[in-house]
Amino acid sequence: MYTDLVDLEKEAQRSLQRLLPQIESELAEQITKDPQTWKLFNKRLDQHFSSLFQLYYQIYAERYDFFYHLAHLLNNLAEAAFARPKDLRALDQAREKDPLWFQSNQMVGGVCYVDLFAGNLNGIKEKIPYFKELGLTYLHLMPLFKMPEGENDGGYAVSSFREVHPPLGTMAQLSELSRALRAEGISLCLDLIINHTASEHDWAELAKNGDPEYREMYGIFPNRKTPDAYEKNLREIFPEEHSGAFTWFEDIQAWVWTTFHSYQWDLNYANPAVFNHMAEELLFLANQGVEIFRLDAVAFIWKELGTGCENLPEAHTILQGFNALTRIAAPAILFKSEAIVHPDDVVKYISPTECQLSYNPLLMALLWNSLATRKADLLSQALATRFKIDPATAWVNYVRCHDDIGWTFSDEDAIRLGVRGSDHRQFLNEFFRGRFPGSFARGLPFQENPKTGDCRISGTCASLAGLEKAIQEEGAAEVTLAIERIALMYHVVMTVGGIPLIYLGDEIGTLNDYSYLEDPDKKFDSRWVHRPAADWEKYAKRLDPKTIEGRVYQSLRQMITFRKANGALQGGSLEIVNTENDHVLGYSRANENQRLVIFANFSEEPQSVPARVLEQSNLRAKKALFGKARIPKQGELVLRPMAFVIFG
Ligand code: GLC
Ligand code: GLC
Repeated sequence: MYTDLVDLEKEAQRSLQRLLPQIESELAEQITKDPQTWKLFNKRLDQHFSSLFQLYYQIYAERYDFFYHLAHLLNNLAEAAFARPKDLRALDQAREKDPLWFQSNQMVGGVCYVDLFAGNLNGIKEKIPYFKELGLTYLHLMPLFKMPEGENDGGYAVSSFREVHPPLGTMAQLSELSRALRAEGISLCLDLIINHTASEHDWAELAKNGDPEYREMYGIFPNRKTPDAYEKNLREIFPEEHSGAFTWFEDIQAWVWTTFHSYQWDLNYANPAVFNHMAEELLFLANQGVEIFRLDAVAFIWKELGTGCENLPEAHTILQGFNALTRIAAPAILFKSEAIVHPDDVVKYISPTECQLSYNPLLMALLWNSLATRKADLLSQALATRFKIDPATAWVNYVRCHDDIGWTFSDEDAIRLGVRGSDHRQFLNEFFRGRFPGSFARGLPFQENPKTGDCRISGTCASLAGLEKAIQEEGAAEVTLAIERIALMYHVVMTVGGIPLIYLGDEIGTLNDYSYLEDPDKKFDSRWVHRPAADWEKYAKRLDPKTIEGRVYQSLRQMITFRKANGALQGGSLEIVNTENDHVLGYSRANENQRLVIFANFSEEPQSVPARVLEQSNLRAKKALFGKARIPKQGELVLRPMAFVIFG
């Protein structure tokens, strides 16, 4: 019709003018009590309401009740702004003045499960001295919201976003913890699980009881007609758990959209009530002191018949909508996207107006690939062509997380280096399951799909890097190599540009833990092999350089100290140095005052970097600032096996 003629900027202003008086009368008391907040809220509305409106309009304009939902949303924003605690308002202002604070080379992240690392939230608080010792400025606590007893996907099935899972503590303790962390310069990151809720969440319970408002919040279908139509184009995410994307529930005589587990019900974002509800949960948690939200499974939130229902444009519109509303009601908030998809799609979530941060699954997968192949060619190519993102955003670089490793590199990139994607993935799966000659890894398959041959890998960093096998079967030389592999990967992650994220336990070389096989709620999910409880007796050895724990820990600690002392490692700009040797990755990092040149040898043999490379980089006769090496006045540089060296 004539919608494309509508001047959305003007409509945004008009809507605001219509809506504000209503809010003013509803919140009259608070406005009188706190005129300052109202003023600031209005200022932020002036700056950001128009984009929020336009995004909302793009998705929901065709709904007859569009304006009702918009009014509701605006009201919630105002209420959240008034409810925002004083210290967080101060943080908002500080972050508005310094929006790129997260680019600092001081940033170092850590991630852990509350119960597995320290029992409960109080336990986590008691570990703050340890986090400081390690150098963390960012702590991601794995899902800690109320979750079903028994199977709950490690908390990724949320029964209530407003309650902490009782064994872990209370919401009051969470707020207190966020303050205690902030006082020590550590930002709290929590998951916002936006794609689904647990099937026992109140919304789902109401839907099961037939409440039409809540049924519309999920994808619930009386027969196979719609599910069949969608499934023509869908990928199976957890094929071992259920085939397809839907689950039949006897009690409600319906098929429910369940991309992940049957007890994780996908939310229906085509319904603006879902957007509004999640916005409320987001702001509630922001007001508890969360600074960074890890937006879980973002690729899946929008469904459209005839498509794969992943990475659709509307998914981006929704995330941008969430971003715009945080600018209005809690501007200190940052988003980190969890999109473990093709690299072309990963980057689409990254922007200052969508997710300022993103996991870097490509770097992760290619680091492991480099260890397996002893070659850095794919990694170097990826860094040269795919690493650059908006300077107002940052990668979160990691070696391991709580999930499986999927080989999400691009087939088109690989083929340019003569590598066939599907064959190579098969090789990597064999290698990391320890079934390939020369493999040092002790990984387990995850979600092997016999229909497609797909498979992903579970295992701790140390076990995948060879430490488990070396300790059990091989001896000292192999132990040393394994420790060097761990260090090499973490050293890249800490210097390449962006925020490094340590999966806590990796820093002391934690091995696979097979006890999950005895737990009926976990035994079908091999990811539990790499989620062991922290062993504090082992942690106690971290300062002893004669122990394995101590050797791993010291090598990571030294790099963290180096990172924090060298301004060239801030931000995300990087240049690839062509080392003319496939085994050696080379890159440089620079700021106005300093240029660092970094070499990483992924082979277990000494490797050399030719003289002309050193000359081009002005490295003659330099002694390494990090790692042991000196560049001769003439001739080539010889790097020892698994060396990681920084010159400057
Ligand atoms: C994310 C989480 C993963 C979980 C899935 C479903 O990908 O990282 O652990 O299984 O979402 O919530
Ligand atoms: C799939 C999803 C990703 C999730 C993972 C969990 O790869 O794309 O979001 O983390 O499954 O195993």
